Amino acid sequence: MKSEGKWTASRIRALKGQAKLACLTAYDYATARFIDEAGIPLVLVGDSLAMTMLGYETTLPVTMEEMLHHTGAVARGVERALVTADMPFMSYQVSMEEAMRNAGRFVKSAGAGAVKIEGGAVRVPLVRALVENGIPVLGHIGLTPQSIREFGGYKVQGRKPAQAAALLRDARALEEAGAFALVVECVPAELGAEITAAVGIPTIGIGAGPGCDGQILVTHDLLGLFAAFTPKFAKRYADLGAAMKQAFETYRQEVETGTFPAEEHGYGAE
Ligand code: KIV
Repeated sequence: MKSEGKWTASRIRALKGQAKLACLTAYDYATARFIDEAGIPLVLVGDSLAMTMLGYETTLPVTMEEMLHHTGAVARGVERALVTADMPFMSYQVSMEEAMRNAGRFVKSAGAGAVKIEGGAVRVPLVRALVENGIPVLGHIGLTPQSIREFGGYKVQGRKPAQAAALLRDARALEEAGAFALVVECVPAELGAEITAAVGIPTIGIGAGPGCDGQILVTHDLLGLFAAFTPKFAKRYADLGAAMKQAFETYRQEVETGTFPAEEHGYGAE
């Protein structure tokens, strides 16, 4: 959504029922600039960067220092979007004190405007404390990839009635604790719509159907830059991976055959 002003957590919360919200991930300055210029209101520096940028098999190994480094780069590329930093695995689970300190670093030194935390009702005390201390929180329920070992794989969540009821309770609890919006990942479309109707804050779906208030995609999936694995819910809007490979091959051939550099790429003596 094109907007002149800066996007804040409260502006995003106020979109509930007013407009659909298109969100994307970014991990670097250049991509963040393009995303911001395209009018995306919320840019998530997702811990998915562990896989898309750093080549890990899961999101679990990424560290606070790595997340801070990428968040700073994204924040420098963005003028209007709300930069939301994903708190990495074990940066908020050990103690409230450590979680508060880590969340504070994203805002204070990396330039984030909000943080995202995975988990439902169990996170209520932390979400409340962060919000009370001026740090907006984006919740994340459903398939929470930091719990991949517990789930036993990237599986659709909330298919059983008891699981669906627990996710509804989680969504309400996070709203009550002060989260400004909720990522809902990989749940049946009917449940995505049900959660959306049950809360007064925007739901941002990823594999949670069209009934959510907004959508988020991993930018590498959207651009065709992540070959290792493409989830069913991801739509590819461009094949930049193929375009890059083609450009690299043409460059190599031109250097090898002496076509590049040509006269116009060089400098005369005077
Ligand atoms: O890390 C990430 O990119 C995410 C999105 C998939 C929501 O959490």
